[in-house]
Parts: sequence; structure tokens; C-alpha cells
Amino acid sequence: MGAEPIFMDCDDTLNMDMDKLEEFLENECNFIDGKVINKKTKRQIKAVVVVHVFGNPANMEKLMELKEKYNLKVIEDSTEALGSYYLEGKYAGKYCGTIGDIGVYSFNANKIITTGGGGMVVSNNIKLLDKIAFLSVQAKKDSLYFIHDEIGYNYRMTNIQAAFGTDQIDRLEGFIKTKMRNYNLYKKAIEDINGLTLLPFRTDTRPNYWFYSLIVDKEKYGIDRDELLIRLNEENIQTRPLWRLIHKQKPYLNSQSYRIEKAEYYEVNLINIPCNTNLSENEIEIVIDKLKKYKKS
Ligand SMILES: Cc1ncc(COP(=O)(O)O)c(C=O)c1O
Repeated sequence: MGAEPIFMDCDDTLNMDMDKLEEFLENECNFIDGKVINKKTKRQIKAVVVVHVFGNPANMEKLMELKEKYNLKVIEDSTEALGSYYLEGKYAGKYCGTIGDIGVYSFNANKIITTGGGGMVVSNNIKLLDKIAFLSVQAKKDSLYFIHDEIGYNYRMTNIQAAFGTDQIDRLEGFIKTKMRNYNLYKKAIEDINGLTLLPFRTDTRPNYWFYSLIVDKEKYGIDRDELLIRLNEENIQTRPLWRLIHKQKPYLNSQSYRIEKAEYYEVNLINIPCNTNLSENEIEIVIDKLKKYKKS
């Protein structure tokens, strides 16, 4: 696309820190003739891509204020927050992915619902959706002679995947109920383990409870995140660290980033524990027992 990302920091919900985004727009950019110009690169900034991380809704109220003020487009990657919605404020009742200009969802295998692969785009802008649909089926201007006026893609979902999807979407609320029940089981037990904190979901939202993240305080718990990660995986309890931060990944080493601090902390101290909807109460007990067992007294 020729677009260049600029990476932002997260706040304690793991979502984009909107105060820092505002600071960046105010201090690092000029606003000229309705355009945000990056002082460093002199390039125009056109859009913000916000991810609702692990099912926790991002601060869309603040982001939409910035969008209006700076004339930006907002793309919500709501993959991890399918079914999460706001309970309070301007967007009470609105689902993640339905507030910005475009919402995108992946239906990859580990998502709350899956079609095996593929995804979905939502928008209130019908023209934009038509264009996306056109590009996703190879941008054929004439489907008899295969005339392409622009570069298209083969990004459509197959009808078999879509059939899975229509069945899965009916089960979404059931999956969320199970995820919430399991989250509360973990929460009750982990509250008593000194040195481990289960990250909360925003209480002014109804999250989908997709992923359960623990913060490991080495001083209090006795072993650090990496040791806990290794031990649990050795016992066939699948746990994962947070992703390696993108601005530190090889393809983006030369990309701009802005005051990334909190994300660095979470990258080394956070662990995701089993969260599949097919976990039984007994299996959750087993995970909790291990977490208690590894704690150094
Ligand atoms: C926020 C987010 N976006 C996108 C994806 C994946 O998208 P795709 O279906 O294109 O692989 C994932 C996870 O796989 C994700 O967590």
C-alpha cells in the first residue's frame, strides 16, 4: 500500500494509549489544511489502526475525538474482541469494530469463533464495502474478458468457510459465557497467589474474555515469567508470552515508534494461560494447582 506504520505504546488495558497518541499528534506533527503531517518524515498521517487487545475494548471515545479533531480515518482491528461492547459513555451498546470507519475481524483457528481462516470487514460506508468486495475478488471490471483496471486480490472467504461462520456466530454468546465463567474461576484462585495478578477487563464494558493474562512479579512470586512459561509448557500446559513487540521485529526495525515504555514492561512480565472454551473446571483446577506449586514460599 505504500503506507508506513508508526508504532504507539499501550496503556494498562494493553490497548493503544490514547493520551500518548494525542501527545504525538500535538507535538510530533503539524496540522496543515486539514492534514496531519509527520514532522520527522514530512509524510501525511491518514489513519489510526487500533487493536482491541485480548477482548478488552480500547478507549474509542478518546480516539474518535482525535479522529474528528485531526481529520483521520480509524480502522478497528476487532479480531480479538468479537462480541465485546461498551456499557457506558457515548458508545454504550456499541460493539468493538462498529465505531470507526472500518472494523476488521479475523476468523483464524484460535479466535473466539473460527472459520478455519479468513475474516470479515464491517463498515457503515457502503461504497467502501463495495470497493473492498470488488478488490477481494480480483478487481475484475469485466468478468467475461477479465479486464482489471487495478490490482485485485484473492481475499474472499470460501462458501464452505462462510457456512462454518454462520453456525459459529450463533454460538458466540455461549462461548463468551464460558470464557467469563472460566475467567472468574481463575480470578478467585489467583487472587490468593502472591506475585501473580490476573489482568482485569474494563468494568465499563462487556468484554468477550478472550484471553487471560497474568502479570508475574518475580520478587513476590519467586520465579520470573520465562521460568514459569517453561515449566508450564514442560507439563503440557500451553501458555504463551505476549507477542514480541512489532517495532523490534526485523521488518520494522527502521520504522518510527513513539515513547514505547509500558509495552516493554508487559512484553517481559506477561503470560497468557489456557483459555479455550472447551477447558473443564477440573483442567482449570490443574492449571491453578501448578501456579500455586511453582510459587516459592
Ligand atoms: C488483532 C489480530 N488481528 C489479526 C489477526 C490475524 O489475522 P489473519 O486472519 O489475517 O491472519 C490476529 C490473530 O491471528 C489478531 O490477533
